[in-house]
Amino acid sequence: MAEAQQPEQQEYALERDCTTLSRHVLQHLQSFSAEAQELSAVMNRIALAAKLIARHLSRAGLMEGVLGFTDDINVHGETVKKMDIYANNVFISVFKQSGLVCRLASEEMEKPYYISENCSRSRYTLLYDPIDGSSNIDINMSLGSIFAIRQQEETEDSDGAAQDLLQHGRKQIAAGYVLYGPSTVLVYSVGKGVHSFTLDPSLGEFIITHENIQTPSHGPIYSVNEGNFWQWEEAIREYIRYVHRNQGYTARYSGALVGDFHRILLQGGVFLYPGTLEKLEGKLRLLYESAPLAFLIEQAGGRASTGTQEILDVVPEKLHQRTPLIIGSEEDVALVQSFIQQWAEAKAEKEMMRRSRVPQ
Ligand code: AHG
Ligand code: MN
Ligand code: MN
Repeated sequence: MAEAQQPEQQEYALERDCTTLSRHVLQHLQSFSAEAQELSAVMNRIALAAKLIARHLSRAGLMEGVLGFTDDINVHGETVKKMDIYANNVFISVFKQSGLVCRLASEEMEKPYYISENCSRSRYTLLYDPIDGSSNIDINMSLGSIFAIRQQEETEDSDGAAQDLLQHGRKQIAAGYVLYGPSTVLVYSVGKGVHSFTLDPSLGEFIITHENIQTPSHGPIYSVNEGNFWQWEEAIREYIRYVHRNQGYTARYSGALVGDFHRILLQGGVFLYPGTLEKLEGKLRLLYESAPLAFLIEQAGGRASTGTQEILDVVPEKLHQRTPLIIGSEEDVALVQSFIQQWAEAKAEKEMMRRSRVPQ
């Protein structure tokens, strides 16, 4: 026979069930100021977007017009899936008439989208990747959404360049992601630790499941698309040869950054999307992919680097700028970086030798 729950266990379960996302934000900011209330309300709207997207995904195969491609190509020259557009519009819709976010900038929109009725009140911009891991949509594998909240300085922007967003990642006020997996998980930080919430479908609420996540300083996972092996610079190839030759490493790669990152955040290791010889800047976008995840990993005691610079120190030159990304446990990121540095030094030395041989 099952043992009856002790009162303190019941109390704990009740306390956990009552710690919803919006309450948690207020608790963590330790204030009921207008600013804290506003941020908590923004997080609540992001949670609503996550629930709408999760619901749509859970029935995707049963409904017409959810799976597959649109005929469009986005600002990055990539094909667009119907789900990318749906999710992009969900984020816009949940913030309409909320008074909360004045401007949204996303992977799927060349220029930022202004919700003008909010702009007299709101000082925030939401940057987001509505669906991360789009290639997983049609095969029912994990997907994500990534977001960051930044202070807004411009309220009007005729050319859509959003100059005031071109600042380093330490300016982010909050960042997080949603993982649409067997359960829907939301992870966020307002610069006071990293916390995860799981959607309880019976309540329709995100309930706290992991507070103050700390990434191990080293982990066994390396997560990279090895299909690009011969397109990388030698430094990355050497690092991959190193993990092949040494015990204690194992590969995991899902095709969705959010899922791969979530594993590393909790269990340690490193995710890499380096540049290639043809495309030094890599694939991932700084403002709504790399920088939000860098904000989280630093909060969890890990690191994020381009290979030569901390991701959070990079000042973008344009809204949709790409960046190489090496992110995860402190020691594993440092190891990858040491290969990059050694290779750069060897290359510089070779160049010096070459010049010294050329007659002046
Ligand atoms: P998105 O679906 O938002 O364009 O992002 C896809 C990203 C990322 O989720 C993933 O890690 C990576 O692209 C996969 O790219 P490859 O197929 O080149 O490995
Ligand atoms: Mn993405
Ligand atoms: Mn995307």
